[in-house]
Amino acid sequence: MKTEKKTIIANWKTNPKTYSEAVTLAAGYPESSDSIDIVICPPPVFQMVPLLDTTARGAQDVHSEKNATGGWSAEQLSSIGVTHCIVGHSERRALGETNQSVNEKIRLLLAHSIVPIVCVGELERDDTMEYIQFLINQIHETFSGISRTELESVIVAYEPVWAIGATSTRPCSAQECREIILLIQRELIQITGNLPIGKITTVYGGSVNAENAREYITVGGCDGLLIGRASLDATTMNSLVQNSITYP
Ligand code: PGA
Repeated sequence: MKTEKKTIIANWKTNPKTYSEAVTLAAGYPESSDSIDIVICPPPVFQMVPLLDTTARGAQDVHSEKNATGGWSAEQLSSIGVTHCIVGHSERRALGETNQSVNEKIRLLLAHSIVPIVCVGELERDDTMEYIQFLINQIHETFSGISRTELESVIVAYEPVWAIGATSTRPCSAQECREIILLIQRELIQITGNLPIGKITTVYGGSVNAENAREYITVGGCDGLLIGRASLDATTMNSLVQNSITYP
């Protein structure tokens, strides 16, 4: 049985080490298909790496300030064929990104018809469940004033910070993922009024690999995945995509 169309987003972060490795990596990726959209977000310095015709080009951030030395604008991204852009990743929030600046970036990207991939997620899980209130505040501030129609062009990525990267203490279970995906949908419905639930696209990111990918989609209830480390190996990405599209 096939799932509904899913989106698999590769976040290469500051990898790979050389441009020629980036070319080889992108060329070995699986194709997008009727079941899966593949989006590659290379580092800015390798943004012009050739991609397969069916692969969407994404960015890892955008800058809202004018004349920000070292930055790049939504207009520039659009002019080189970038169709998606991650904003609010925890690694950028750790460098000073706020809910307010993410909100501004969402608007800028939408104004240039680029799909914002908006990351939200708690830093840690506490027994007293304060992380739930943290998430609710983060979602409300990040999406403040974003309309129902605009939200239909956004991908929301649930990325629990404690489950991301090599320092992660344990993976987020698919059930834990599902609970927060439902929370995100509930809060976004509150922000925008009666948005039909099927219109909010959510993906999960944090220690996803070829083995656990399927569970985040089937049990976790996501429309796709945001992949860090596992996206740096083309063979792994082929298995991951294969595992994500077909299940009993
Ligand atoms: P990871 O990173 O898959 O290496 O945990 C995910 C991310 O940071 O988006």
